[in-house]
Amino acid sequence: MKVRKAVITAAGWGTRFLPITKAQPKEMLPLVNKPLIQYSVEEAINSGIEQIIIVTALGKRAIEDYFDRSFELEDVLEQKGEIKLLQEIRELSNLVDICYIRQKEQLGLGHAVLTAKSIVGEEPFAVLLPDDIIDGKVPVLKQMIRVYEQYKTNIIGVEHISSKDTTKYGIIEPRRISGRIYQVLSLAEKPEPAQAPSDLGVVGRYILMPQIFDVLEVTPPGKNQEIQLTDALQLLLRQQAIYAYEFEGVRYDTGTPLGWLEATIAVALKHPDIGQELREYLRQFL
Ligand code: G1P
Repeated sequence: MKVRKAVITAAGWGTRFLPITKAQPKEMLPLVNKPLIQYSVEEAINSGIEQIIIVTALGKRAIEDYFDRSFELEDVLEQKGEIKLLQEIRELSNLVDICYIRQKEQLGLGHAVLTAKSIVGEEPFAVLLPDDIIDGKVPVLKQMIRVYEQYKTNIIGVEHISSKDTTKYGIIEPRRISGRIYQVLSLAEKPEPAQAPSDLGVVGRYILMPQIFDVLEVTPPGKNQEIQLTDALQLLLRQQAIYAYEFEGVRYDTGTPLGWLEATIAVALKHPDIGQELREYLRQFL
């Protein structure tokens, strides 16, 4: 069955980016002039996704407003003759079919995914974590859908990480199948370097079979007392195969100030309106 739906989780507190995230959803921080979450929405659309389910929480209303229509703003732009901006603003609300679910208690990534159960139903679906911005010639989700079409089972995005950073990621125990594809033998959520089964870290892109929901329902709290998607995947291995795909592209972890700055500079340098000037400006610091 085709992968038609994508769940974007946007319910976390953004503790790694406090204090700004006290009153500002981290998913709405800008990368140049678009909020972070728009990059995941566009990646999903460019990968052929037809419906997006955004899991939000308390304090995240700005996300819904952003993808909604704003007749007042459209009116003002029209009167000012700002036709290009007007088109851009209108296109934003027509991007794709988006629906929202509120995660009422922030009990972890696994729990956030579980809240989408009734909207996803009985079909394979994608999960995107908007903190992970991935710049690839082919959208990463599209690369993963191709792998899914070959194996018709769960696919998770991975990349080699520095071995001192294992405590930041889900880590897989891999068995290489070919090129960029591995069979997942086991997974551990944020292990200490000495316990890590490899240096292949899970990044925020997954294609999951609907059976993950039944597993999530019985997954006990794990690391940080949260219901972890990684733990549910480890349980799912008892009944289904999981493959990992080492994607082609550069990933930025925009959930931290440094990662966000790196992504901002990289995206801005490529931007047609400001890239050249920014390059000249940055030369003075070298
Ligand atoms: C989550 C997952 C982790 C994964 C990471 C990718 O952790 O729990 O397994 O490696 O996303 O970004 P978080 O970064 O939300 O703490």
